[in-house]
Amino acid sequence: MSVFGMGYVGLCTAVCFASRGFKVIGVDVEHEKVETINRGIPIIHEEGLPTLLAESLRKGLFNCTLDFKEAIRATSTSFITVGTPGKPNGSTDLSQIEDVSRKIGLALRDKSDYHLVVVKSTVPPGTSEHLVKRVIEEEAGKRCGEGFGLCVNPEFLREGSAVYDTFQPDRIIIGEYDEKSGSLLEDFYRAFYAKAPPILRTTMVNAELIKYASNAFLAMKISFINTMANICERIPNADVTVVAKGIGLDKRIGPSFLNAGLGYGGSCLPKDVKALIRFAEQLNYEPELIKAVEAVNSKQALKAVELAKEALHGLKGKRIAILGLSFKPGTNDMREAVSIKVVKELLKEEANVVVYDPVAIPNAKRILPEEVEYAASTFECIKGADCCIIVTEWDEFKRLKPEDYLKLMRRPIVVDGRRIYDPREYLGKVNYLAIGLGPVQTGLNRPF
Ligand code: UDX
Repeated sequence: MSVFGMGYVGLCTAVCFASRGFKVIGVDVEHEKVETINRGIPIIHEEGLPTLLAESLRKGLFNCTLDFKEAIRATSTSFITVGTPGKPNGSTDLSQIEDVSRKIGLALRDKSDYHLVVVKSTVPPGTSEHLVKRVIEEEAGKRCGEGFGLCVNPEFLREGSAVYDTFQPDRIIIGEYDEKSGSLLEDFYRAFYAKAPPILRTTMVNAELIKYASNAFLAMKISFINTMANICERIPNADVTVVAKGIGLDKRIGPSFLNAGLGYGGSCLPKDVKALIRFAEQLNYEPELIKAVEAVNSKQALKAVELAKEALHGLKGKRIAILGLSFKPGTNDMREAVSIKVVKELLKEEANVVVYDPVAIPNAKRILPEEVEYAASTFECIKGADCCIIVTEWDEFKRLKPEDYLKLMRRPIVVDGRRIYDPREYLGKVNYLAIGLGPVQTGLNRPF
C-alpha cells in the first residue's frame, strides 16, 4: 500500500502497517522530509516510532519517495493523509487534498489494475464525494467503482500515543463509495488486527461527519468541565477535580476528558471545532452549542494570567515562570498550544517571561516572541520567579514539591493551570492558586 502525506498521521500509519509485515511506500512532496525519513529519523516526537521506523526500513517493508506514479503502480491501495489546515475564517484548506487526488488520478490513468483510494485526512462532509472522487475521475479517465474504489476512513490518533492508538483503536469507521471498496478495506483491517475492534461501515459522508462529531464532543466535554471550574472558583471549598470524579463515575458520562485546565490546543480539536461551525453556518444552521464550546475555550487560557495578576497585584516587571509549552505532554507539538496565548498575554502586561519545556523549546523558539527567556531546566525556570504557571502537565513538573518552589522562587506563588498538584499538600505552604479550586482559608491564599 502507499500512504500519501508523511505528516503525523501518515508516517505513524505507514510505519505501523509496515511493522505488521505489509509492504508500504510513503509519498511526500518535500525532498528533505523523504530523505530524513529514509535515513530512519522520524520527523516527529512519538513514543515507539523510532524503533518501528528503523525496523521497517531495515526489513525493506517501508521506504519513502517523491515518485507518486511509481507508488501507485507498485501498490493496490493508497491512503490519503495530507494536511487539511484551517483558513483564517475557520473553513478548511483543501488544496493538498485536491493536489494529491490529481496526482493519484494522473497515475491511475496509466494503470489497468483496480486500485483502492482511502481518505484518512479530516475533510468536511461531502469532500470525498465532490472533490476527491471528481478529481480522480477527471484525471484518471475512469469511473469510481469501476477502475478504482473509494473509502473514507477517519483516524482518531492522539499525538503522543499515536502508535498505541493505531494498534489499539476503539473502533474503525469505514465510509464506502460502494460495497466492493468497503469490503476490501474491512478485509485489510481484519488481516491487520489479530482481534479487530468494532468496525462500522457506512456512507462516506457519515464517516466524514463522525470525525468532526467525535472531536467536537471531546472539545465539548473539556469546555463543560472548564465552565464548572470557573463556577467552582467562586465557591468556598469547592474543587472541580472532585466534581469531575463524581460525575465521571456515572457510566453515561464517563471519566475521560474531564480534566479542567487552561483549555484544549493542538492540531485537531481547535481546527475541527472551527471547521464544523463554518460548515454548519454554510448550511444556514447556527451551531450555538459548538460556538459556545469554542468561546469558552478561547478565554480559558487567560485564566492563568488573571490568577497570576490577582496574586501579584499587577504583572508589570514581574518575573513569571512558565512550565510546559507543548499543547499537551508527550509531544513537542506547539500547534495552537495554550502556552502561546499565555505568554503573549503576559508580555502584553509587561511581565518578564521565562519558560521551560522538556522537548518543545526548539519549536517554541520559532513561534514565541523574542523577549521570551528560555531556561535549561525546571529548577532554572522557577529560580527567582515571582510566580510560576503550570501550562502543560509533564511528569517532571508533577514531581516538584512545595519546598522546591519555596526554596527557589522569589515569591512562592504557584498557578496550577492543569491541576497536577494535590491542594492539601500545597495549600498553606506556598500561595497555591488553581483552575477550578474555590477559595480556601489558609491565610496565604486568596481571601473569601
Ligand atoms: C485529538 C483527539 O483526541 C484525537 O482522537 C484526534 O484524532 C486528534 O485530536 P490530540 O490533538 O492528539 O487528539 O490531543 P488530545 O489528547 O485529544 O488533547 C487535546 C487537547 O485537549 C490538549 O490540549 C489537552 O491538554 C486538552 N485536554 C484533554 C484537556 O484540557 N482536558 C482533558 O480532559 C483532555
